[in-house]
Order: sequence, then structure tokens, then C-alpha cells
Amino acid sequence: MAPTALRESPPPPAPAVTKAAAGQALEDMSDAIDDVNTIKYDSASQFDTAKDKTTFRQYETACDRVKNFYREQHAKQTVAYNLAARGRFHAASRARPEMTIWEAMEKLNTLIDESDPDTSLSQIEHLLQSAEAIRRDGKPRWMQVTGLIHDLGKLMLFFDELGTQGQWDVVGDTFPVGCAFDPRIVLAASTFAANPDSRDPVYATPLGVYAPGCGLDNVMLSWGHDEYLYHVVRDQSTLPDEALAMIRYHSFYPWHREGAYRHLMCPKDWDMLKAVQAFNPYDLYSKSDDVPSVEELKPYYMELIDEFFPQKVLKW
Ligand SMILES: [Fe+2]
Ligand SMILES: [Fe+2]
Repeated sequence: MAPTALRESPPPPAPAVTKAAAGQALEDMSDAIDDVNTIKYDSASQFDTAKDKTTFRQYETACDRVKNFYREQHAKQTVAYNLAARGRFHAASRARPEMTIWEAMEKLNTLIDESDPDTSLSQIEHLLQSAEAIRRDGKPRWMQVTGLIHDLGKLMLFFDELGTQGQWDVVGDTFPVGCAFDPRIVLAASTFAANPDSRDPVYATPLGVYAPGCGLDNVMLSWGHDEYLYHVVRDQSTLPDEALAMIRYHSFYPWHREGAYRHLMCPKDWDMLKAVQAFNPYDLYSKSDDVPSVEELKPYYMELIDEFFPQKVLKW
């Protein structure tokens, strides 16, 4: 007879605990990805010259950490997976969670383990820092609110019916699927061989399923927090196209920093590119700013949210 301890297995951990752990792991990975992009694109660091060895070592350490992440992401972001993810998002049977923008910010915050000593910034602080840096520079109100919400798509990890698989379909740099993977995607050379689409007779061609100049609105970008939030807010806000582009493309580094995928752009996309490039520093470099006071800033941002989300409660 099996010992009691084996027969009576302990109850599974409460979902909240599991989700906090998953949220924490996601956040740690997201920070490492940001570190790589910050060091890679910070012109002051000169990380790729022999001059700045410390920064370069920092980059390599961060890079080691995210290498496995990108190996998995680049193998699994296929056309088939992307169609399935969008199918789950749009499914009529999906009961969409309902909450306001502020509630979403608070929810995202609770999913991170605040007892973790390594946690640098809470989600709400990163969002407020981005928004405050934009506001400080006298940018328009729609851009301030975009800074405030741009990462709320990370909530996707916790809405079970979206069927989110892990970190690889939430965070990380994004890229189009359905056409050849551009060599300027981070770590492209060593990772895309494992993606079946890289051997597909159509998907592996430069244009793939797309027409030249078809416009990025018609291009399927790898599924993650950017794409998810874009789908949530585009019909539920009065945000201008530039704001939607900042949300949808903020992790699309091969496009906005490396100059790839120009052959898919339509004239409007060049304006969107300028907007996304203007937004990027506020996402990447505002983390070293002073930690904002959530309670002090809340009234200002509540008013701002109401201005662009007149129906207040969103379907997520
Ligand atoms: Fe993000
Ligand atoms: Fe961000």
C-alpha cells in the first residue's frame, strides 16, 4: 500500500500564487530583453566598440539570458500559431474580461511578486515613468496616455481563454510572420532554422503572402502584448493612428530601429514609423528616472484616461 503522503497529494497551489510566479518570471525576462535593447541601442554606451568593455559584458550576460527565450520564440511564432491566437482572441465564445484602464494597471501590478528583492520597478511605475517623461517633454495628451497604457497587453498572460503559452508569446521583439524572417531580427541567424515557416515555399520568400507596399495594417505581426493591446484598444478608444502604431509596433525593433521590412510599407506607414521612433526612448530610457508617486499622479491620469476612453469599461 502506498504511503499516505503519496496517496494524498497536496492540493495544487492557489491560482493567485501560480500567476504571481508566472508574472514575476515574465517580468524578469521582459527586463532582460529591455536591458539588451537598451545597451544595444544606447548610442552613449558604445557597447560594440572595444572602449566600453563593462557595458559589453553586461550586454553579453543579458544576451545569454534572453538567448534561450528567443530560441523558443523564433521556433514557435508561425503563421499557424498566429492564426490560432487571433482565433482565440476573436472567439464569440470567449467571455471577455471587463475593466477600466486603471483597474487593468492595478491588476497588472498585482501579478508581480512584490516581495521579490530583484524586482526593479513595478509595472505601474514603468507605465507612469513613460507617461511622465512624455508629459515633461510637452508632448500631446494622446501620447501621454499611450505611454501610460502601452504595456497593459501583458495582462494576456493571465486571461486563460486567450490560451497564452508562455513568455515567448507575450514579450520580446516582434516581427512579421508569413514572409521571410529578416536577418536584422535579434539573433535571427541562430534561431529561425527551427521554425517550420522558414522552409515553407511561400512564407520563406521576401514577400511571402503579402503584396509589395501592402501596408503594415495588412501584415500579421508575431502575437504578443503589443499586438493584443492594439486589438483591444483600436475599437474602444479615440486614440489617433499614431498612438495605435506606438502600441502595436513598440517592440518591432527590426522595423523601427534596424530598417527592415520597408518593402511592405505603404505611404502612411512612414508617418507611423516617425511616431514609433519618437515614442521608443520614453519606453526604453525612462526607467532610471525618479520613481513616481502613484497616488499623487492618479487624478491627472484618471482625467486623461477618460478623455480617450469615453466608455470607461473596456472589454479585454
Ligand atoms: Fe512593451
Ligand atoms: Fe514598456
